Amino acid sequence: MSFPSHSDLENALFHCELCPLRKDAIGPTSYNGAPDSPLAIVGEGPGGVEDDYGVPLVGPSGQLLDKALGSVDITRDKVYTTNVIKCRPKNNRTPTVEEGVFCAERWLDEEMALVKPKVIIALGSVALKYLLAPDARITKDRGRWFETKYGIPAIATYHPAYLLRLTGKDLVKAKWEVFYDLKAAVEKCREAAPDYELKSPEPPDLLTLFSSRREERKQKRRMP
Ligand code: URA
Repeated sequence: MSFPSHSDLENALFHCELCPLRKDAIGPTSYNGAPDSPLAIVGEGPGGVEDDYGVPLVGPSGQLLDKALGSVDITRDKVYTTNVIKCRPKNNRTPTVEEGVFCAERWLDEEMALVKPKVIIALGSVALKYLLAPDARITKDRGRWFETKYGIPAIATYHPAYLLRLTGKDLVKAKWEVFYDLKAAVEKCREAAPDYELKSPEPPDLLTLFSSRREERKQKRRMP
């Protein structure tokens, strides 16, 4: 299926019931940020806060992502942020490769066809495995460029949830690696879209921005 616009895609996504993950989630989460951005960030799948709000990467991982992006002069309203998996797996478990493929072939691929970013950042192992290969390893493959099936170059970096579990020297090392991965992505983006500004003067408050969607989803959850 291909969608004429992003709002058509989002409408269809919000009604998706194609796999069992849907029944344990409040609903599918879509994207946030700028659909005209040359830079797309692809995460894993929604956690609890994202399921509440219906938007990717607005919980603890999203807050750390904002800080990391800030260190390379990116604000979230200037990038397109999405996930491989649209519905929160029960108990926040990591989605399987097969679940990732099933969901992403229906939704992420359509998003990429509409957005046509110039550069993709794969955030963590689930995104790397979908975008590169099922046997890819984040520890081995992060920080190097690869070509996705969309013909768009991508670079993988550690997922913020992984950083949140690290301490001491390991954390410092991983933070620097993420910084250099993001910097490489910004440089490639500037080469491909030199006039696009990745930073806005007023970084958005995503939780406020999507508070009405959260209210709608709360009502939905209360309905029998
Ligand atoms: N982790 C992700 O990869 N995506 C989200 O939306 C939330 C947590």
